[in-house]
Amino acid sequence: CGNSMQAGIFSDDTSFYFPFCHGFSVRGKQSWSTDRVNKFNYLTEEFAPEDLVNMGLQYAFSGKKIREEVYGAFKRLVKDAKKEDLTIVANSTFRTYDYQENLYTSYKNNNGKEYADNYAARAGYSEHQTGLAIDVSTLNSTMANFEETEEFEWLQEHAHEYGFILRYPKDKEFITGYNYESWHYRYVGEKVAKEIKELNITFDEYYAYYLAN
Ligand code: DAL
Ligand code: ZN
Repeated sequence: CGNSMQAGIFSDDTSFYFPFCHGFSVRGKQSWSTDRVNKFNYLTEEFAPEDLVNMGLQYAFSGKKIREEVYGAFKRLVKDAKKEDLTIVANSTFRTYDYQENLYTSYKNNNGKEYADNYAARAGYSEHQTGLAIDVSTLNSTMANFEETEEFEWLQEHAHEYGFILRYPKDKEFITGYNYESWHYRYVGEKVAKEIKELNITFDEYYAYYLAN
């Protein structure tokens, strides 16, 4: 038993380390694309995916990296949106533990701890460290007003077709632990994304119902 690629992730959930030793349910966890990181499940400081790739400037602001499969899906999404004259750009993608630590600290210093905990994950607790999350905007919007764009509307309809879900939906703060983020999309693969959309639930709920032991 053991899964070397994922070692170091989810320190408080040992089933994750050895997925084949624990007998998952029929619909149980099968892939890294359904890895869970939230306020209760964290990554170790040294965790970074092994298949990060550089993203092209037609898809992301400069210097962004993401997992290879996620990049393929995101490229298809961006190209299809482009056919409808919509421009979707990745603003923030893979983030290291240290980067997240600085980000959280700056939120905390500027706005206080309570605010920071609603908007930014503490280091180790961010999905961005998994290389599965992408914050998007358009060329003319910021993340903050992304919700008002046609690109947002298009994603509401189509994100799941490419394996992405809106990770922190409106009115689900009490489940996800974070304020609504119209810009944060999480790759879970097409099958799971479609199910989450049809069931109209959060990833946290989906995980609890269908993926957890
Ligand atoms: N804004 C999300 C919760 C993060 O910092 O990962
Ligand atoms: Zn994000």
